[in-house]
Amino acid sequence: MKELTISASRSCRVLIGSGLLSRAGELALPLIEGRRALIACGERVFALYGERLRESLELSGFSVWFCVYPSGEAYKTPETMLLIVKALAEAGFDRSDAVFALGGGVTGDMAGLAAALYRRGIACVLLPTTLLAAADASVGGKTAVDLPQGKNLLGCFAQPRLVLCDTDCFRTLPPETFAEGWAEIVKCAFLRPELLPLLEEPEPRLEEILAACVELKSELVASDEFDTGVRRLLNFGHTVGHAIERCSGWEIPHGHAVAAGMAILTRGCAAKGLCPPETAARLESLLKRFSLPLSCDFTEGELLAAARADKKTRGRRITLVLPDESGRPGLRDMSFEELGELIALGL
Ligand code: GLY
Repeated sequence: MKELTISASRSCRVLIGSGLLSRAGELALPLIEGRRALIACGERVFALYGERLRESLELSGFSVWFCVYPSGEAYKTPETMLLIVKALAEAGFDRSDAVFALGGGVTGDMAGLAAALYRRGIACVLLPTTLLAAADASVGGKTAVDLPQGKNLLGCFAQPRLVLCDTDCFRTLPPETFAEGWAEIVKCAFLRPELLPLLEEPEPRLEEILAACVELKSELVASDEFDTGVRRLLNFGHTVGHAIERCSGWEIPHGHAVAAGMAILTRGCAAKGLCPPETAARLESLLKRFSLPLSCDFTEGELLAAARADKKTRGRRITLVLPDESGRPGLRDMSFEELGELIALGL
């Protein structure tokens, strides 16, 4: 088992390893003053892991309530989030009690927001059940729900009390969903190139790699919790990735879109002489290894229009994360015309 601490406005323990779901009660007990626990989860995850978590919490003396909603991004809405808040109110939770968010990024973001809003904030324990959520969304305190106008438009920063990444949960993931997590891991490895050889080993050691990614993310979050500086490096691949998701009507999953986004802009940078061609080749070979896409079927014009509509976009210029002459991604401010040129070169 690996253990890390994230030091932000509130410190948060992150544990990574096998069998953690069954130990959730004993691990949460010293961190949660109250004895009421609400498990928030989608129907699919409830069927797989709901009982195991309930048993563990009850064994440690928690009284357990459930809020179960339909699975999927379509339900990451203010309405579903309010179901969680109302379940807390109906069960009489006070500020010493806790929400246990069991699931992927949708549940972590949404239950995290419900916990942050209920009585102006109660504790939240995240139990990511996807590799994608373990490698990215569960670390750093971003919470949100979607609005009809865009993804993650209603949210806040609120650090969880504890994150338990039970690596056994990843065994039940469909292969494309598992691959999505590798996209965020490949992203982290380019931000911290010492990790690249670990990903290139014949049998990559997932627990070790995941811990290294969480460590990288925790350092970025510790120095820029509110995402106005270096934390934005984690957006490598995301500007074009979000544009791909938007163009596909959110049919292309996030991790796949980010993989294609990284590959398109890195090829564009290599073609323009901004980074070495070897950087693009190494990225492509890793993405292939983890069965991730290297491009998409949308045109430069479609992707550029979608990138302009992104919530992170301000005015006529955009801050991108692009590999530099050393091959390492850095922040770079550019016009949309320059972004269009890079996309055209990289497609
Ligand atoms: N998902 C990127 C971040 O947490 O900043």
